[in-house]
Amino acid sequence: MNSRSSQPVEVDSGTSQHTDRIESLDLRTKVRLLTGATTFTTAAEESIGLGEVRLSDGPTGVRGLDSSGVRQVTLLPNATVLASSWDTTLLYDTGQLLAEEALAQQIHVVLGPTINLHRSPLGGRLFEAYSEDPLLTGNLATAYVRGLQDAGVGACLKHLVANESETERNTMNSIVDEATLRELYLTPFEIAVADADPWSIMDAYNNINGVAATEQVHVNTEIVKEEWNYSGLIMSDWLATQTAAPAANGGLDLVMPGPDGPWGEALVAAVEAGEVPMSVIDDHVHRLLVLAARVGALGEQRQYPTDLPTPTSLVRKEQLIRLAAAGMTVLTNRDGALPLQQTQSVALIGRHAVDTVCMGGGSAEVNPPHQVSIAEGMTALPGTSVSVVDGVAIRARPASVRRGVLLDPDTREPGIHFVLRSADGSVIEERRSASAVTTIGWDDDLDADVAAIEFRAVSTLDGSVDIGGMGAGDWTVHVGVDTFAYTLGQPLSDDETERPGPSLQEVLGGALQQPPFRTDTSVVSSGTEIRGVVRRPMSPGRFAVTVAPAQRGSDEAIAEAVSAAAEADVAVVVVGTTDERETEAFDKSTLHLPGDQDAMVSAVASAARRTVVVVNAATPVIMPWRDEVDAILWAGLPGQEAGHAVAAALYGSIEPSGRLVSTFPAEDGQSPAWSVTPVDGDLNYTEGVYIGYRGHHARHAPEPNFWFGHGLGYSSWEYREAHVTDDSSVQVSIANVGDRESREVVQLYFDPVEPDQPVRLVGWQGVTVQAGSAADVEVSADPRMLRRWDTSSSRWAPLSGRGQFILARGLGDVRARLDAVPAEARAQRTS
Ligand code: BGC
Repeated sequence: MNSRSSQPVEVDSGTSQHTDRIESLDLRTKVRLLTGATTFTTAAEESIGLGEVRLSDGPTGVRGLDSSGVRQVTLLPNATVLASSWDTTLLYDTGQLLAEEALAQQIHVVLGPTINLHRSPLGGRLFEAYSEDPLLTGNLATAYVRGLQDAGVGACLKHLVANESETERNTMNSIVDEATLRELYLTPFEIAVADADPWSIMDAYNNINGVAATEQVHVNTEIVKEEWNYSGLIMSDWLATQTAAPAANGGLDLVMPGPDGPWGEALVAAVEAGEVPMSVIDDHVHRLLVLAARVGALGEQRQYPTDLPTPTSLVRKEQLIRLAAAGMTVLTNRDGALPLQQTQSVALIGRHAVDTVCMGGGSAEVNPPHQVSIAEGMTALPGTSVSVVDGVAIRARPASVRRGVLLDPDTREPGIHFVLRSADGSVIEERRSASAVTTIGWDDDLDADVAAIEFRAVSTLDGSVDIGGMGAGDWTVHVGVDTFAYTLGQPLSDDETERPGPSLQEVLGGALQQPPFRTDTSVVSSGTEIRGVVRRPMSPGRFAVTVAPAQRGSDEAIAEAVSAAAEADVAVVVVGTTDERETEAFDKSTLHLPGDQDAMVSAVASAARRTVVVVNAATPVIMPWRDEVDAILWAGLPGQEAGHAVAAALYGSIEPSGRLVSTFPAEDGQSPAWSVTPVDGDLNYTEGVYIGYRGHHARHAPEPNFWFGHGLGYSSWEYREAHVTDDSSVQVSIANVGDRESREVVQLYFDPVEPDQPVRLVGWQGVTVQAGSAADVEVSADPRMLRRWDTSSSRWAPLSGRGQFILARGLGDVRARLDAVPAEARAQRTS
């Protein structure tokens, strides 16, 4: 994407040198290297020229070494928007962009891509992962990994394996039969390992068939390292490792984070007792050295470029708008309601229009310099007439402050000024946070315990506001003449000084994600000072000051929306989910939109001349108003340039050429795999290989609202003269019969005759064609999608080859069915 990214690192793959290095180390030193040195770095060892390897989340931005949210970095569109492009070039560009972000912070490895599958749409973390389909996921991951690694930054495939939901995430046991594991959940890992050689992989928190992912000899050693010949390093998810010998013998190479952990002396003792062979330890160290060599942390340390684009640069803005808009997906479009015309007056309605959700929650969160709302993006376009109306409430909890609502009193920059103080009153650290959120005691390595967090800001709002505190502690908040004092979380007696925090395990289990909160109403004018203190804050803990215009009731909001809609040529209603739902550590319980958004859409649709709905959500939502509106644009969580990208897609300066990466069910419960709640710790993948479109097609679930692969773009297509060629490829001529240049994604599915084998995507080809022109497209079936796992022989076996190839724009819009030429017939022909 940007050719100025650093020179690829010379890989010191000299295995013999690694052997010499390893031989020079004693056992204790070797073992020390196999646990992180800090939360996000590995240990260095000067005697062999090994520097620390610096890791960062991943996958939609490079947050850096600490998560307290101080450094501003670029926020990319979320994974499902990127994936909806079905464009490997775009994913390669994403990897290159992330590599630049990593190099700017001297990060060696980005903890991504997340390539778990969308098993049930309730999974909280689907926003981070690509798709319900293993081929699409594997091929897109391959491109992303290549983009990163071609610039000398390591990728980390995560989370190996069967980690598709968050409920009881640290302890749950996924029960998955071997064929399902192989044919579905391992396939994206297998494809990415074979085609991109990722430099690291992360073992998941969960158990698989009763064995912890970090102790899975079967998965880590037998499959990944032996069958797939994987030469990279397998690290644990953060705090996932529970044991010494079983994990070390189970194929896990590196325990993260450190410096504490279950290996250390326990592993030294296990080696000395003969429970873990020295060769196993040496292999782990060897893999660490290979990684270090690849990223430039072994021997001569790498040089970093200093001229990379900043998160606020025009280069980034253009890249991010393009990446986001390309994956946006036109779900319906009656009578050419989209793209909008500049001459139309627009009533832009909805909380998501003014408070656009640009990212999901959890370890993928970053601290971006700005998050352009759809209202800002639409009103920034010259020559348009857009009136903006806030909508109904969408959150159960207060949102982070919108950028610009608070200003730092000293710098007048957007944000709040935090001062962390110790018990004697001295300053431990000052922080300036644009989002008015800060985290203490997790990965900030502070010199002293935080006894108080002071904060100061100036409000830019006028009128009635909801003002609140979030995070366990004793709060005092001063807003102009009002003072609010309260305790959040467990009350303490007067002589207690510390409010005990969660364990690190609990932190990663979600304890930091949804801290207690309270809001009060106050009246402010622009310039009103907001200040206060949290005494005896819980540590680790997350703290936020929240300020927003006071919430109106739904009736009032809907009435205002309806009257604005009636006066405009077109109403654009922006609805969606929030980072409360699209988040690590928690699953969803429904796909219905939060609050009274459905009622708002229906009311607007009945009053407006034309209604366009923009869906600001990463994953499927239920749309009871689907047939009441003229067009639906699915926009995902579009990253920091969200508003500009949505404006580009709505007005058509960039074609929203996305195709869905997961099937949208018509109602809650109507997906082939639904529950994400373990029973007695077990989550049974009883649906086998029939997830998503595979299950809908086999009628294991009712007709969905929108199929995987669906997406209209801004043109129309005819499919002509399709035929199967000798080598299980299909050729087709497609004609763009619309009136603008457009990108078509020709999708090839195979429906085998074997009754226990589902239909599956076997290949696709994206092609851009001028209006009125045709193109010949050839799509080849990936052989990895034409095999089955034979449980009796524990081997891959080819399918019979009999069945049908299907050319479709999602299986709800089949364009051609072609008899497949069986393998033996092909063989006869060629002999
Ligand atoms: C997540 C990983 C992440 C790690 C480090 C874990 O809780 O599951 O995806 O990379 O934390 O932040």
